[in-house]
Amino acid sequence: MKKLEVFGAAKLKGQIRISGSKNASLPILAATLLSDKKIFLTNLPKVKDIETMVLLLKSLGSTIEDNKKTLTINNNKQTKTFAAYNLVKTMRAGILVLGPLLAKFGKAKVSLPGGCAIGSRPVDIHLQALSKLGVKYKIIQGYVHANAPRGLVGANIKFPKISVGATENLIIAACLANGKTTLSNCAIEPEIKDLVNFLIKMKCNIKWTSKRTIKINGVNNLSETKYEVMPDRIEAGTYLIAAALTEGNLKIVGIDPKIISTEIDILKKVGAKIIKKKNEILIQGSKKIKNINIKTSPYPGFPTDLQAQMMVLLCKANKKSFIREEIFENRFMHVAELNRMGAKISVKGNKATIEGNIKFEAAELMATDLRASVSLILAALASKGKSIINRIYHLDRGYESIEKKLKKIGAKIRRIN
Ligand code: UD1
Repeated sequence: MKKLEVFGAAKLKGQIRISGSKNASLPILAATLLSDKKIFLTNLPKVKDIETMVLLLKSLGSTIEDNKKTLTINNNKQTKTFAAYNLVKTMRAGILVLGPLLAKFGKAKVSLPGGCAIGSRPVDIHLQALSKLGVKYKIIQGYVHANAPRGLVGANIKFPKISVGATENLIIAACLANGKTTLSNCAIEPEIKDLVNFLIKMKCNIKWTSKRTIKINGVNNLSETKYEVMPDRIEAGTYLIAAALTEGNLKIVGIDPKIISTEIDILKKVGAKIIKKKNEILIQGSKKIKNINIKTSPYPGFPTDLQAQMMVLLCKANKKSFIREEIFENRFMHVAELNRMGAKISVKGNKATIEGNIKFEAAELMATDLRASVSLILAALASKGKSIINRIYHLDRGYESIEKKLKKIGAKIRRIN
């Protein structure tokens, strides 16, 4: 099994180009199932989760050509409606094929994604909302067996809780439903806006009518579409935190600073100097890092996907900080490993107390999930000496060419067997 070897302490300097967004690409790929026309997608990141979604689409009968820059998807012969466990188990976003399959064929059998390290992650909100569009479902032996014999019918749906995946599944499904659908209390992450822009380009009839409400008029005909996926704001946030942590000096290119203004404001508060330009962010890390209290929340709040990385930075703050994790109940798996590196973090329920003024020590470490893996790399970059990070397959799910990008800005990092 592959491992990463990291030699610290690093001072990162140079330029990083941000890849396409994994979390925008996944629902867009699922949404291509709605159409029989050719779709050309660019700026998809080269990461494992995208490969898995492509395999899932192929298993459903999609014809997909990858010519390095553009993925061409043709679903005119796509007829299968069965999404198998072995493809959905590693990637929860597999459940996003449920909405489009029901919209197109009126039936689907999709594996439940199951639990994962960061929490139980149920799909009850997806299923309850789909049932309001006329879907009947049963869960049998780990699969959702769903059908809508008379097709999907538009409805007014208020999500009981903000969910990124449920909002995406329902927006996609409602595009081909009969009549009007209104979805309220929607998640409004930039990736959802990107999905909607893609669907509108495909000639779906969708309008945001207020901050968290969207109206969709079902259509019958979609058009051939070319679309460039947005950049990855979590990747950008991760490199910004890496600069702040290592007193680094980075130019992050290819991302509009507006979509990560919450993260930028927090990094400024802890002492980093940041200049925002059009599609560029310049950051200079400071010697002194100030403490801060943070809670994760749906966009535009601080993202749970940057909580682990931020925690590493706060270990270096001048005083104690607190992080409250409001999205996933068990997303503190990185804490035990960080404490093995000398951090002093204690967890009570969903609240972590982070003592400041820590000198990280290099160690052999175990990654537990995607964002936890990257937080361990950050801590290793801030430690003197050699760290080894095991189970980096988690990392490969979501960060494109991370060693290459880090090497280019001065990190000593390599993949070993
Ligand atoms: C997406 C992102 C993930 C991010 C998360 C929160 C993708 C591929 N993944 O995940 O990186 O961390 O948003 O920003 O875009 N919930 C239920 N029932 C449901 C659905 C969700 O109880 O049917 C709960 C979840 O357990 C969680 C919360 O709602 O506590 C938010 O989850 P959700 O927004 O749905 O996250 P994902 O779409 O899975």
